[in-house]
Amino acid sequence: MIIVKAKDYNELSKKAATIILNEVMLDPSITLGLATGSTPLGLYKELINAHKNMNVDFSKITTFNLDEYYPIKKINNQSYDYFMQENLFKDINIKKENIHILNGETKDPEEECEDYEEKLMDNGIDIQILGIGANGHIAFNEPGSSFDSKTRIVKLDEQTIKDNSRFFEKEEDVPKKALSMGLSSIMSAKKIILLATGKNKAEAVKKMVEGPITPNCPASLLQKHPEVIVIVSEDAEHLLEESAIPSKLGGYRIITEENLPRNKKVVIISPHPDDSAIGPGATMVMLSKKNKVHTFVMTTGHRSYIPNTTKEERANIREDEVLAESAILKSEPHLLRLGYYDDEKELDNDLKILEQKLKKINPDIVMIPQIKDEHITHIRARELTLKALKNLKMKVELWNYESPWGLFNKGAYNAIVSVPSNDFFSKLQSIEAHKSQVERTNYTDVAESLAKLRGALIPEQELYGFGNKSHSIKPRLEIFYIEQSE
Ligand code: F6R
Repeated sequence: MIIVKAKDYNELSKKAATIILNEVMLDPSITLGLATGSTPLGLYKELINAHKNMNVDFSKITTFNLDEYYPIKKINNQSYDYFMQENLFKDINIKKENIHILNGETKDPEEECEDYEEKLMDNGIDIQILGIGANGHIAFNEPGSSFDSKTRIVKLDEQTIKDNSRFFEKEEDVPKKALSMGLSSIMSAKKIILLATGKNKAEAVKKMVEGPITPNCPASLLQKHPEVIVIVSEDAEHLLEESAIPSKLGGYRIITEENLPRNKKVVIISPHPDDSAIGPGATMVMLSKKNKVHTFVMTTGHRSYIPNTTKEERANIREDEVLAESAILKSEPHLLRLGYYDDEKELDNDLKILEQKLKKINPDIVMIPQIKDEHITHIRARELTLKALKNLKMKVELWNYESPWGLFNKGAYNAIVSVPSNDFFSKLQSIEAHKSQVERTNYTDVAESLAKLRGALIPEQELYGFGNKSHSIKPRLEIFYIEQSE
């Protein structure tokens, strides 16, 4: 569940509209699940504006409405059919045949609901818009509704009748029943956007987000849906606990100074002398405060260009730079000088050297270049490490790291390290320690740009949702794919 806070109702409506309009423009034949009530009115106005002023095309969208009073005539100005025509459909270019609303005039409500559910399941909903009742209902699934419920006829709760009487002349005029999509019908939507505004919703919002998952608060079931965005205005969210950065968000492990691993033995596999600093350098600084960190420098990196030097001199220069790096990152360096760098026939021997080293340290965490890293020296270093771990039957947490030679695609990482600025500064210094290399290529800029790019985009795209800036995640991030070794 992603919570997006809005200052007021106007901002809430605009944020919801931004998400929906983006999706409609990306996929003009999208299916939207729509709600009625006072909450989505502002959103519908925004959609109408976008149609009128920005030519957003709704001619290919399909819609399914959540519910309808029963019995009620479509021409009754309190019917949800009437509401939708008046507040949205008449002002956008949606096709009549693409609109689905439960028929409150039907003689056979059971059959109507069954047909509706079937159409719904055949078609599927891409984005479902929801409001929430003060009693925690969604659609007309009142407290006590079964989590398995499908579209059906329901009795309205006393509180709902009271709440909705504001739209009718008198309370007795509010129909006592409704036809409503069920909780399981709603949960089948790919994405759900729930809007909540007004202080009378604050209690329900708190129960939905923080409370136990229980039929007493039907909206709490949404905690189980993989893609729910709750957009909530200040008056409805003030009861929510102000949480520190959670250690898990949107399926990602969020690693901060507070929840970093402690008292572990960590080995960083650095194929070249500078890969550790350029790749997971900042995370190494953070880890080294509470853990024992070792850097395995796999090769001398003597093939790099350093003018007017012999192979031996280059190896020495680069290994001296490793010592300078390690002093900054507070890591213990191990210069393995593996032979595969010059001759792949050495790989078997290299494996033995690596196995011995790993056995001696017996690490809990091993960091390796991620699987998509295409640099051959990195590929071999990764393969050797995985093989050695397997041969030793050593179970470790593998942290696949990102480097300029292997950037993660969206969805390929599952952990995000939020780096404090002083630790990031140490990373930059440790890269600068590889003087012979940064003279040729500005890896300091490369590492800083990458960490800033991740810091700018990941919270927006992956963690908090559109338009909701996080203040707690640091602006520089390193990212990993963490898994258990085989
Ligand atoms: C409307 C619906 C209801 C409302 C809820 C909040 O189609 O299914 O669940 O979303 O009752 O109503 P308002 O927005 O009027 O406070």
